[in-house]
Parts: sequence; structure tokens; C-alpha cells
Amino acid sequence: MKVNRQVLLESRPVGTPVEHNFRVIENPIRQIADGEVLIQNLYISLDAGFRNWMKEGSGDHILPAMEIGEPVMGLTLGRVVESKNPKLPLGDLLMIRVSWEEYSISNGIDEWYVKLPEGIDAPLSYYLGILGDTGLSAYFGLTDVGKLQLGETLLVSGAGGAVGSVAGQIGKIFGARSVGIAGSDEKCQRLMDELGYDAAVNYRDTEDLSAAIDEACPNGVDVYFDNIGGPLLEAAINNINEKARIILCGAITDYHLDEPAPGPNNLFNLSKNVATMTGLMCHHQKDRYDEARHQIMDWIESGQLRSIEYMSDGIHRVGPAFCDMFQGKNFGKTIVKLAD
Ligand SMILES: NC(=O)c1ccc[n+]([C@@H]2O[C@H](COP(=O)([O-])OP(=O)(O)OC[C@H]3O[C@@H](n4cnc5c(N)ncnc54)[C@H](OP(=O)(O)O)[C@@H]3O)[C@@H](O)[C@H]2O)c1
Repeated sequence: MKVNRQVLLESRPVGTPVEHNFRVIENPIRQIADGEVLIQNLYISLDAGFRNWMKEGSGDHILPAMEIGEPVMGLTLGRVVESKNPKLPLGDLLMIRVSWEEYSISNGIDEWYVKLPEGIDAPLSYYLGILGDTGLSAYFGLTDVGKLQLGETLLVSGAGGAVGSVAGQIGKIFGARSVGIAGSDEKCQRLMDELGYDAAVNYRDTEDLSAAIDEACPNGVDVYFDNIGGPLLEAAINNINEKARIILCGAITDYHLDEPAPGPNNLFNLSKNVATMTGLMCHHQKDRYDEARHQIMDWIESGQLRSIEYMSDGIHRVGPAFCDMFQGKNFGKTIVKLAD
């Protein structure tokens, strides 16, 4: 009999998630009923935002709160290996919002899934990274929200992460000066050597982040792509140019907090500079995913864009790899491979 291994939420993280917040268990897989399919998950996407729903009472219009002792929710890419649902035949490849687990049973109705698009020849893992929510957030953030122009300065926080590694590179493709913020000298060097960033600021190793950004962006900041929020956002706002655009993609610093995060103390700088700060939710652009994916693949094929993945293997790596993101250990998109 086939068994399924899945990751449970053993305890709620307090501050930065740690490995013992998660536990792997094993259960037999039940027979599927009419209308259901059995999916073998090949890759699990680890997304920092899911930390939010690990808080008690954190359910919202996107997801319910995760409960202690229950499987952790996430995004996977899987293949239909048994089917009693004609809409989802054997072999179909799906991106699906399920649990962190090796096998999932779906009725194809009430669970969230998307069939892998046809007509793009890319490694499967790309659909969780550069062609998935994180790469597409970078693309739509810079095109639709940031409207980045030739010769402008783009500042990116979380610059070596899944979204940031793509945003900095797209900045260069658009002819902007890309400046990254990251949490170690080694990562800052990699931003410049491997992703083409023009300059980088180590936010952990500076006493005055505003001054460090000023030094790295001598012409000011035209577009700030914010993945982090908190003190980094405040420091960026101190350096904006007139008519700057701030893209609010994520706020990792807030995900740890049980109390509402303090707001930036310098919002009037937006008024003084007639600047805008706009939220981004990638899935609001669903009808344009196809266009964006083709553009991203063209850039990859022409050598202008690289997919960077922080990949590990096996269900036991899922919890630790999730924790790695909050300690800045990842470079690129964090993915765990479960099967070929
Ligand atoms: N709006 C959307 O549609 C959308 C879609 C996808 C993702 N997002 C958001 O985009 C952001 C980035 O996600 P991602 O998947 O690309 O994650 P990621 O950047 O791959 O991983 C998180 C990175 O954040 C940095 N970090 C962690 N804790 C930090 C802290 N307290 N202060 C400063 N930096 C910290 C770490 O790098 P360092 O080494 O630099 O510390 C780490 O590598 C997240 O906020 C996520 O929720 C939004």
C-alpha cells in the first residue's frame, strides 16, 4: 500500500520559524472516490507569505489560519497518478494549493488548482519560481505598478530572494540601474556577480541604512520594489525622487509580529515628492500570465535572464528550507523536490 508523508504544524512559530515548528508524519493513502484524483507532488514551493497563516486567528479571504497538528498548507506542482475525474486525466500536471505532502487527493472542484500551461518548453520547477507567482510578481511589479523607465534607479529589498533575484535582472533589461538590499556581504557580492546588480547594500552591516542607500543610489530612487517592509521601507522612503513609485510586494519583517507592525514614520515624504506606494497581488493579473511567461522565457532564451533556485530534496527538507528563508540562507527561489 502506498504511503503519504506530510508535514504538520507542530507548534506556532514565535518570531522566526524554527525546524521544530514542523513534524513529518506518514499515513496510508486511501482509495480515491468517483470524481477524485490522486496527485503525486513533484515539487513544493516555499513562500515566505505562508508564515502569516501560521498565526492563530490569521484566516482571511485568501486562506484559513493553519491549525496546530494539521498539515501545513502550501503550493505544489504535481502529476495526476490515479484519476476518477474525466476533467483531470492521468499524467496531467497541476499547480495546486494543498498541504506540504508527497501525495494529495483532490476532487478537482473545491481545491485550488491550475493546469500547467501548454506551449512553453521550460523545466517544471520554473512554474513555481521564475514562471510562477514570484517571477510574475517581479514582472508585473516593474511593468504595471513601477512602470520602470530607461535610466532610472531601481532599488530592490530581499534582492537575492525569489522575487528580488528576478526583479533586479528585469531592471537591467529595462536599462535601469539596479541596486539590491540583502543580509550579508557574500549575498551582496553574488547580487552583483551573478544577477548583474550595479550596487548592493548589506542591511545587517550598516548603522545608518538611509545613508547607505543614499551612497549606493547617488541619483536617488525612482522605483523601490519592497519585499520586506519595516525599517528597510522607511529607509527607502527617505531616498525617493520626485514621482517615485514604491511597489509593496511583501513585508517579511511584519510576518513575525503578533502585534500590528509600526508604520513608516516618514510617509509625508511621499506627498512632498508626489510619489506613490501601491500594493501588488500577482494573481490579480491572471489573465496576463501567458503574455508574461512568454516574455520571461524569451529573456531566458536570449541569455538576459537567469532562473536562480535554492533547491533541496525530500519531504524532511521542507520545514528546514522554509526556515532558511527567514534566516536569509536562500539565494533565489526556495523549492523542495519530492520526486522526478
Ligand atoms: N504580492 C504578491 O503577489 C507576492 C507574490 C510572491 C511573493 N510575495 C512576497 O514577496 C516577498 C519575497 O518573497 P520571496 O518568496 O521572494 O522570498 P525570498 O526573498 O526568497 O526569501 C526571503 C528573503 O528575505 C530576507 N529576509 C528574511 N527576513 C528578513 C528580515 N527580517 N529583514 C530583512 N530581510 C529579511 C532574506 O534575505 P536576506 O539575506 O536579504 O536577509 C530572505 O532570503 C515576501 O514578502 C512574499 O510574501 C508577494
